Amino acid sequence: MAIETSEAKDLIYALGGAGKVANMTHEERADALEDFDIARLDAASAEVRDMRKFPSVAELDARIDQRGYRRGAGSIFRHSNYSEVVKPGVPEGKVKRLPKMPSAPTLLDFFALRIGSSSAHLLQSAALARRRGAPEETVLACLLHDIGGVLMKSDHGYWGAQLIEPYVSEKVVFAVRQHQALRFYADPESGYEYPTRYLEAFGFDYAPPPYIQAAYDYTRNHPWYMEARLVTMNDLYTFNPKIKIDIDDFHEIIGRHFRQPKEGLGYDNSPVAHMWRTLINPDAPL
Ligand SMILES: [Fe+2]
Ligand SMILES: [Fe+2]
Repeated sequence: MAIETSEAKDLIYALGGAGKVANMTHEERADALEDFDIARLDAASAEVRDMRKFPSVAELDARIDQRGYRRGAGSIFRHSNYSEVVKPGVPEGKVKRLPKMPSAPTLLDFFALRIGSSSAHLLQSAALARRRGAPEETVLACLLHDIGGVLMKSDHGYWGAQLIEPYVSEKVVFAVRQHQALRFYADPESGYEYPTRYLEAFGFDYAPPPYIQAAYDYTRNHPWYMEARLVTMNDLYTFNPKIKIDIDDFHEIIGRHFRQPKEGLGYDNSPVAHMWRTLINPDAPL
């Protein structure tokens, strides 16, 4: 499928730039293009989705006691290969031994050593925001928007906002927290459609609970609405996990907008230090 020039630029940038694309194998490029086409078709066909292929809320609810885990558990507590869709007869993988962290870990260390497979999604979202000319704080919000999901997927926007609150501006916290609610509400003017993935994950007949509706109403009427909406607009639901964008590409933005504590994240006695320590050692039994 031919792609428009601006879309090609978005794709190349999201993959790490022309240099990285040039170094990709033919197979990697084909995979990336296929993922891109799927995402584009997904958006284009949002209006004509066949709801019959998605589970209902009741069907998803019936699967709860068929699993050995709860879907809200953060990714660091689970094997990376698990699926949100139950696959009968497919055994769950084992978690990996985590590498040791430095005694005063930085955000870059967490990206390198703890965030794991989720970092591809964060890096590609941030790269896309930057390619589209978003301000640095928006790029940072995109880079951090799902960091809470490493600890807890359920309400991950709230967990993520709390985790970063002592270290970033109020605007970045707002964007990360409020993206939790905005994801459920389309904004055609901004080009944001309800994600097909949510029809699968939440059920085609899902209605967000009242606290999410209230958070949406609050955010929709807030002067910083676009700060949070931009996070959802750059939230790539389809990406190629084989393609790596380096966290070092965002070194300067992090340096300017993330107040790294000199004691290290987890050891600065901030109100959220324990959350970073749990990421450092999620194998602690108590
Ligand atoms: Fe998210
Ligand atoms: Fe996301």
